[in-house]
Amino acid sequence: MSGRLGGVRDLIEAVLSEPADALATNGIRAAALAPGDQIRGCNAVARQNPALPVEVLRCEDRGAELIGPILPDSCRVAVKNDMDSSLAYCGFGVSDVEAWTSFAVDQLGLMRAGQGDPPHLRIDDRSWRIALHHSPKDDLLYAGFEIEDEEQLEKLRVKLLGSAIEVFDLSQTDCDQRKVQHGFHFADPNSVRLEFVTGHAKADTPFQSDKSRGFVTGDQGLGHIVLAVADLEQTISFYEQQLGMRVSDYITVPMGDAKLRIAFLHCNPRHHSVAFAVMPGKRLNHLMIEARAVDDVILSHRRCVDAGLKTGEIGRHPNDLMLSYYVTTPAGFDLEFGWGGRMIEGDWTVAEYDQISLWGHQKT
Ligand SMILES: [Fe+2]
Repeated sequence: MSGRLGGVRDLIEAVLSEPADALATNGIRAAALAPGDQIRGCNAVARQNPALPVEVLRCEDRGAELIGPILPDSCRVAVKNDMDSSLAYCGFGVSDVEAWTSFAVDQLGLMRAGQGDPPHLRIDDRSWRIALHHSPKDDLLYAGFEIEDEEQLEKLRVKLLGSAIEVFDLSQTDCDQRKVQHGFHFADPNSVRLEFVTGHAKADTPFQSDKSRGFVTGDQGLGHIVLAVADLEQTISFYEQQLGMRVSDYITVPMGDAKLRIAFLHCNPRHHSVAFAVMPGKRLNHLMIEARAVDDVILSHRRCVDAGLKTGEIGRHPNDLMLSYYVTTPAGFDLEFGWGGRMIEGDWTVAEYDQISLWGHQKT
C-alpha cells in the first residue's frame, strides 16, 4: 500500500497487510491494531475481512446492532497533537439543580450517577461527566481535561510553573470528589478554572438510558465547550503555547456593526474540544455532546420542543459538519446536541469560514 491512508476500510486493509512501522509512518498511532481491537478515535472495531464495507463495522458496545449509520468521516484516523488531552468533565453552578437534572435525563437521555448531591451525570462508561453544583452563577465553574500519560501531565505542570502560572494540586478530597487519581488546577487568561487530571474513573455499571443510544466519547472526551473570552488572540496563544492545543479553523460572521470571530481548537481527534469568541453573555456559551445515532438528535429535539424549552432548529455547521440543534438549558446557557461530527485528520489545513451554519439552526 502506498500514499496516505484514508478511511476505515483502508485501515483494516493496512492492518492486514502492513507491518507496524509502515502504519506509523502513515500517521496511525495505534499501530499494533489487530482484528477485534477498537480503532482509536471511533466507535468501531477492526474486522478480519478487508472486503467489508464501512457500513458493517460493529459498534463495540452495542453488539452487532447498528441503530444509525456511522459516517465514514467519523471513523477516520486522526493526526497526533503535541500533547493529547480530552475534555473529561465539566462542573456547572446551577440555581435550579432539579430542573437541570430533569432536563438532562428526561429530554436529552443522560443518566444520573447515583442519587448523591450535588447530582452527577453520565453519558458513557465514565463515573461522571457533568456535575451540577448548587450555585446562583448559572455558568461553568470548572472544566477538567484528562491526560492519560502521567509523564505528560507532570511535564505540563513544569511548563506552566516555568511560565509563572500559579498551579495548585488537587487535594485528596478534590480527587475523591472528581474520581481521579491526581491532578492540578490553574486559571486560564479568562479566569476559567481548568483542571488537568489523570485516571478519571470508570463507573461500576454500564451507561443505561431509555432515551439514548449512547454518545461519542472515548479519546474524544465529553464533547466541546464554547467560551466567551476577553481577548481572542491571548486566549488562543495560551491554549496553544501552554496546553499544546491547535487551532482547527475559524468562523467569522457579522455581528451588528462589528464581527464575531470564533476560534476552534482541538487536543485530540475531535474537531474541537474548546472554542472561543469575544461575545456578550455568560462565560459558557454552550456545551456540545455528540449522540451516536442521528435518531437521538431528532427524538430529543422533539422532546425539548414538546417540553416548551427554547429550542432552535436542527442544522449543520460548515467546519465540524456537526448535525445538531441548540437548546437553552435551565441555567440559561445553551446545550448543543449533535451527531456525525468530522474529525481532525491527515494534513490538516486551518480554514476560514464565513457562516456559522450550512443550513438550519434558526433560533425560535
Ligand atoms: Fe458547538
